[in-house]
Amino acid sequence: MTSPARHAAITGWGMAVPDAILSNADLERLVETSDEWIVSRTGIRERRIAGPGESSTSLSLAASREALERAGLAATDIDLIICGTCTSDQLLVSQASLIQAELGGTAGAFDIGAACSGFVYALSVGSQFIENGAAQRILVVGVDTLTRYIDFTDRSTCVLFGDGAGAVVLEATSADRGLLASVLGADGSKWESLYVPGWSTPEAPGIDASPIAAIPLAGQPNGTEAAVATMDRAIAPAVSAAMESRPLLPSNPAMVMNGGEVFKFAVRVLGDSTQQVVARAGLTMDEIDVMIPHQANVRIIDAAARRLRIDLDRFVVNVDRYGNTSAASVPMALYEAAESGRLRDGDNVVCVGFGAGLSWAAVALRWGTGRA
Ligand code: ACO
Repeated sequence: MTSPARHAAITGWGMAVPDAILSNADLERLVETSDEWIVSRTGIRERRIAGPGESSTSLSLAASREALERAGLAATDIDLIICGTCTSDQLLVSQASLIQAELGGTAGAFDIGAACSGFVYALSVGSQFIENGAAQRILVVGVDTLTRYIDFTDRSTCVLFGDGAGAVVLEATSADRGLLASVLGADGSKWESLYVPGWSTPEAPGIDASPIAAIPLAGQPNGTEAAVATMDRAIAPAVSAAMESRPLLPSNPAMVMNGGEVFKFAVRVLGDSTQQVVARAGLTMDEIDVMIPHQANVRIIDAAARRLRIDLDRFVVNVDRYGNTSAASVPMALYEAAESGRLRDGDNVVCVGFGAGLSWAAVALRWGTGRA
């Protein structure tokens, strides 16, 4: 493969998690579960949960400010902010815009919605802008506050997820450092394996509209009920029908998951996309020094390691302390690996994300800022 003249190197990194720690012992008080079950099936011991004053924006900001400081840059030096998230604090406004509003500057700002794969998708997209010369410095953020969309009476999901944010600065360099290759993929036909029912339009494929229609209109803040009631159906039947089918969100939308299906999918794509991206980078598995996988479940990582025939100790694992933080998990694991000195200049690193969609993404990179 021909190397681009310009590479996108990681020159800054940051992370932030909420203060509150939700332990397995806490969960034992909420649902019929045990520390032993959670640890043996997932490897998770505790996770962080966003409380008052904490949000996707506050966590992203703390991570972004740390990444910028480490890179020695101001927000106004940044050309583009790309945020991987499925839990922006605003529906209409991108999380990237909310980050920029606080950081300052006028960088382009947009989100990538690929759930747990979002940050790795964003790394891949950001590197294209740098390699083709369209941008010089990019802030790439991965953030999620998925515990807001968890049913804490559902033991099959509530033990798995936590909140957090991670951020990196990508900068152009002509040195032999930075992103080498990426692989992006999705199997949209499997989207129902992991989603939030009701957070949709009744017209969406495969959606059973009845639970949505059953939600009482009363109290809807947008006045839809009143508008439908007073509408002259003789004059505007099509408009009336359209109004009546407005998607109305349940007050507490919560995730559902086919855990077994997601587990098998995750093991397969973690292994396959790693092999593909390593080959695309012109490397062999033996040349990969550090693997940074999405932190969903230590058994997924363990099974993928066996499939790839590499030792588990080449993988960064911190799922025990944070659970599954969705788009934040890869940048948080990368941050801890960098801070602990585990990533050395010139190391070949593979980052892999996988999650709802079902989606997956892998990047191969050579660690180092590329600065003299
Ligand atoms: N505590 C105690 N028992 C439980 C719990 C719990 N928290 N959750 C489920 N069980 C029970 C089940 O009810 C079932 O009981 P039954 O046999 O009486 O029916 C039993 O444990 C076994 O359930 P399984 O679902 O077969 O358990 P499994 O070993 O497969 O582990 C798990 C379940 C951990 C969810 C696993 O399937 C998994 O990790 N899947 C992937 C989930 C994931 O990572 N999703 C997100 C990835 S993508 C993204 O990040 C958005």
